[in-house]
Amino acid sequence: MKTETTIQGLSASLNPARAARKIIGFVPTMGNLHEGHLNLVREARKLCDVVVVSIFVNPIQFGPNEDFDSYPRTLEQDQHLLAEVGCDIVFAPTVEQMYGNKPRLTNIAVSDITNDLCGLQRPGHFDGVAVVVTKLFNIVQPNFAFFGQKDFQQLAVIRQFVRDLNIPLEVIGVPITRAEDGLALSSRNGYLSAENRAIAPTIYKTLQTAEAELLAGTALAEVLANMNTTLTAAGFVVDYIEARTPELQKIEQFDQDVVLFVAAKLGATRLIDNLQVKYPAA
Ligand code: PAF
Repeated sequence: MKTETTIQGLSASLNPARAARKIIGFVPTMGNLHEGHLNLVREARKLCDVVVVSIFVNPIQFGPNEDFDSYPRTLEQDQHLLAEVGCDIVFAPTVEQMYGNKPRLTNIAVSDITNDLCGLQRPGHFDGVAVVVTKLFNIVQPNFAFFGQKDFQQLAVIRQFVRDLNIPLEVIGVPITRAEDGLALSSRNGYLSAENRAIAPTIYKTLQTAEAELLAGTALAEVLANMNTTLTAAGFVVDYIEARTPELQKIEQFDQDVVLFVAAKLGATRLIDNLQVKYPAA
C-alpha cells in the first residue's frame, strides 16, 4: 500500500491503472478510521481493481465553533488499518495541497436539501462537503465512490450534485455499521464519557421502537413525539427528530417508505443516526 500526499504523486500512482482501464474505487474519509470506514473499503475492494482512500480533515466543512482543531488525526494508525483491508493507495494531502494559497471563489451549493436537518444547525457545512468531494472526485477520477448511510443527508447531497453536474462516476451508499449495542459507529463517539457511551445506544433503540410503532399503526406525529420523550428522559438534548422520504422530502404520514432521522447532543457530543422503515407492501 502506498501513501501519497500530493495531487501529482497520486496521479503518477494512478496513471498506470487508468491506462490499463482498471476500475478505480474511492472512499473519501477524514481519518480516525473505525469499522464503518473499513466496511466502505471492503465494499470497494469487492467491486474495484484499485482502491483509493483519502484522509483529509476538510477545514471548510467545519463551523467556527466546531471541532476542526481537535478532530482526531491518527494517520499512522489509519494506514495500518487500511493495509489490513486491502487499500491500495492512501491519499493524505495537506490543507495547502488541497486549497492552495490563493482565494477560492467557487462554491457548490445544493439547494433545498442542504437547508434542512443537519444543514439548519450547521450552515455552510454541506457546501464545504460538496466542494471538497468534487475536488477529490476530480483528483482521483474514480469509477465508484463509497459513502456511509449514517450520513444519510450527506449521501443525498452528494448523489444530487453528481447527478446535476454529470460527474462521471457511480455513488454507492453502504449500510450503517453499528457497535454490538446498536450505536452507529462514528469518529465522534470517542468524545463520549464512559457514562454517556452507555446511554448513547438509546438512540438506536428509540429508532427501533419507532419502527415497531409505525408498523403497528401509530400515527407518525405520535411516534416522533414518543422518540423525543424517550431521548429527553435519557439525558439527550434533541436537535431534531424528523421523518423524510428517502429523497429527503417532508412526509406527514406513514404512507410510503420513510427515513427517521435523529440528531441529539449527549454532553458536548452531537450524535446522528437514522433508520429507514419500509412501507408494508399491500
Ligand atoms: O463523511 C466524511 O467523513 C466527510 O464529510 C467527507 C465525505 C470525507 C468529506 O470531507
